[in-house]
Amino acid sequence: MKILYIEDSDEVRQLYVVLLDNIFPDVSIVETYSGNQAVNILKKQENFFDLIICDYEMLDGNGEVVYEHIKNTNDQAAFLLFSSKKPDEIPYFNNFPERKGSDFFIHKSEGFNHFKEKILQITQHELIFLRKQLSFKKIRIYNFWKFNTALCDIFLRLSDSKYVKIIKGGDRYTRKDIEKYVHKQQKFLYIRSDDFSSFAVTLGKTPFLTFNQDEDNISENSITTTHAMIHELVLSVGISPQAIALAEKTVNDIVELTKKNTELFNLLLQSREKKDYIYDHSYLLSCICGHFAWYMNWATSEVVKKLAVASLFHDLKISDPDLAFINDLSDPQIKKLTPEQIKEIKNHPFNIVELIKNNPSIATEVDTIILQHHEKPDGTGFPKKLSGKQIHPLACTFIIVHYFVDKIYEHNFDASQLVNILSGMKTYFNVGNFIDPMSAFIKSFDLILEDK
Ligand SMILES: [Fe+2]
Ligand SMILES: [Fe+2]
Repeated sequence: MKILYIEDSDEVRQLYVVLLDNIFPDVSIVETYSGNQAVNILKKQENFFDLIICDYEMLDGNGEVVYEHIKNTNDQAAFLLFSSKKPDEIPYFNNFPERKGSDFFIHKSEGFNHFKEKILQITQHELIFLRKQLSFKKIRIYNFWKFNTALCDIFLRLSDSKYVKIIKGGDRYTRKDIEKYVHKQQKFLYIRSDDFSSFAVTLGKTPFLTFNQDEDNISENSITTTHAMIHELVLSVGISPQAIALAEKTVNDIVELTKKNTELFNLLLQSREKKDYIYDHSYLLSCICGHFAWYMNWATSEVVKKLAVASLFHDLKISDPDLAFINDLSDPQIKKLTPEQIKEIKNHPFNIVELIKNNPSIATEVDTIILQHHEKPDGTGFPKKLSGKQIHPLACTFIIVHYFVDKIYEHNFDASQLVNILSGMKTYFNVGNFIDPMSAFIKSFDLILEDK
């Protein structure tokens, strides 16, 4: 069973994805947040769907755009208009259903049970469903990041009949607590079927942005958790409006944090627990970039924001955190990777820019920084092997800080290595547009080094 699900509200989409996961044992769901994106997906030859579930009102191409495409191409997929407007309230859909037997409508205000029954009817899957009345329901893990208190008991599945409780209902938890129990390829955690309805109701009502409401301070945990949510959205649907809203919030948090925290460098050099490299290094990168930009007095917060947005997004098209470690296509580690993984590394700067390039709320310099973030001062970087003179000055700053973060990470945040790291960097980056930001970057450490 393959479903294309088009819905611009991340909250609604994620809720119904959870329901669909629990209706069909082996469903594959492609998600998108706009009609135009959906048409692009449908145009690709390899994409065949049994069912298309489509919202009506969406900013970038509404339900009409999708339906028109399906009719014109004689797509055989069942089409389910899933909207808060009835077809007779929409002039375009006055004759709906036009493809009798293949077109369906569900009003969004109908309950979960109605949705489930209707979906089973449309896909004629009643029998499978009746045989599979399970005592646990599966929930995609990222849904648990919306909360920091367990809504009900949460379980890990060990086998068909064995589930072990990992968090008690009502207990507080962090992203790390969830990840601790999750092996790399594990996509789901489980809750009791009896808890499912109330869990789903709360899930559907909880936007990502409420996550920090009960936290007074901006913390690394809240920033990296929000970042993990953005990552999930980017990998599942691209840069949706909610991903942008989350990024804006995170970037504002980072700007505030870097403005206030004069001891930041010292904080960074305290021993840190290594968790997930994508969030760890992006967080450090954004903080150090921000701090450095304030030091340079470039500090319109616009510059800090551009660097922070680039920090958050630059590696988000990498799905496996281990691959984000590889900065160099001549790295011996690369020989151990599959062709797909190598392709993912080579293309990740393009893939993310492809998603953000037409987004009016992301400055064009962010595209440039991301495209160039693996270029090198000696011209051996990728994707374009640009020379130190050809790399944009803001990208140079980003590359310097990225290199620095990798080095302190490599040395386990050992402050005694700082002088060595910086002097090595001074020689390495003594070229083209790197020279000025590099010498300023070293100066920004003067006070800290004097203390040592
Ligand atoms: Fe990267
Ligand atoms: Fe990176």
